[in-house]
Amino acid sequence: MTAVGIDAIEIRTGNLKLDLPNTFAPAKGEEPGKYTKGLGLNASSFPDSYEDIVTMGANAAHRLMERKGLTPDDIGRIDVATESAFDNSKPVSTYIAGCLEDVYGENFHHANKGERKFACIAGTQSLDDAYNWIKAGRNRGRAALVVATDTALYARGDDGEATQGAGAVAMLITEDPSVVEMSTEQGYGSADETDFLKPNQQFPSVDGKRSVQVYLSRMREALEDFESVAGDTHPDDYAYIPFHTPFPGMVRKAGLLGYRHMIRDTSVEDELAEEIGRQPRREAFDNDEAYEDAVLEYMDALKETDAYREWYANTIDPTLTISREVGNWYTGSVHVARASALRHALQNDVDLVGKRLLIGSYGSGAQAEIHAETVVEGWEEEVRALNVEEQLADRHDLSYGEYESIHDSHNHEKDTDMDALTVPEEEFTFDGWGRMGERKYRYVE
Ligand code: CAA
Repeated sequence: MTAVGIDAIEIRTGNLKLDLPNTFAPAKGEEPGKYTKGLGLNASSFPDSYEDIVTMGANAAHRLMERKGLTPDDIGRIDVATESAFDNSKPVSTYIAGCLEDVYGENFHHANKGERKFACIAGTQSLDDAYNWIKAGRNRGRAALVVATDTALYARGDDGEATQGAGAVAMLITEDPSVVEMSTEQGYGSADETDFLKPNQQFPSVDGKRSVQVYLSRMREALEDFESVAGDTHPDDYAYIPFHTPFPGMVRKAGLLGYRHMIRDTSVEDELAEEIGRQPRREAFDNDEAYEDAVLEYMDALKETDAYREWYANTIDPTLTISREVGNWYTGSVHVARASALRHALQNDVDLVGKRLLIGSYGSGAQAEIHAETVVEGWEEEVRALNVEEQLADRHDLSYGEYESIHDSHNHEKDTDMDALTVPEEEFTFDGWGRMGERKYRYVE
């Protein structure tokens, strides 16, 4: 069977940074610890006035194509996943293709282009579409370009303002990939939920506390569904487990829940029994409430055990290092988590070939998906090529006043013209409006 998966990854952050504990928290009259310890965030990335979902996506795709020596003829499909689209008809992929065509002087006229929407899970759904297209033998030897790009901004004063971010991840999906091979097995947890939505509005309506619970419930369902086709999961089966990361504190909760599920009826549960007892079983309780209280008590004890702490430090924590510095990138977030884990492995000389990842994606509204990936030969070279450290270090550090202005300048309901805070260099930039209300772009040398 042909191996299909991710052949290359590129990450593009917004060019601005908001320091959460040192700039945002004091202005809000909050404790810095809410960010560094509670949410697990140091900073959020923001787009400068000349950046948007198209420029960040096109810049990521351009670097990927340059690095892999590709031209438009090599790409048979461009899918953009976003929940920040500005047009209900013309997909963002056409804008990104237009940007790239200007630079390459060649066109993507024979590439199928689309836009995927299901909140943050759309990035993984686009990978899925690419995988299926190649597996079905319809790609004519060509690769698929998947771009997950978002400006995750919340209304000023909304609780979500603490978890903003902006950036894009471009991924090349091919046969015989050089980073990871994707599993055929998948699990889904999907239900009609109103936890986070944007009914024809730019900034989301969010029930923040509920969204956390919905994330965990759908993720648990997806894991059970995955196990029904792939067999039981065990904590030792996976080198890393990258989750959708709206903020690292969310993944701390998901990791604990996942670990409890995976150790059930295993020797790990037996070994921990002396220290914290066995997991509560529903049949031992008269009602759901008593059972749920017992589970919470067990989880509180579990998270303090050495076994759990060591597993978390090795398997989950490495997925969070980039997210801590950039915040939520919605569709790109789980793909940032995978890249973060692979980068950690490279920096620590971990031999990953043949090792497995378990990917937990989530989108509000709501759906979770779980699949496995196997790391393949070539991953080190691909991950070494990422320049994410340089990009993070080069961001302009916003003052609180600048943050207020840049938020206004990206607010579609405000007419705020603002000078850029950084100077664009070798990148696509927003260049004003066309005669039909379309957005125009220009590559700055
Ligand atoms: N020291 C240490 N910890 C502190 C602290 C301090 N000084 N102050 C607060 N904390 C802790 C709190 O105890 C809390 O931790 P727990 O959740 O473990 O209890 C954490 O920091 C956050 O504090 P609050 O709950 O007080 O923060 P908040 O009221 O601002 O709400 C939020 C947090 C609900 C996540 C909010 O930021 C929000 O609505 N975010 C957007 C929605 C979101 O991201 N939901 C996630 C699931 S949905 C999803 O994943 C899709 C998506 O991408 C949006």
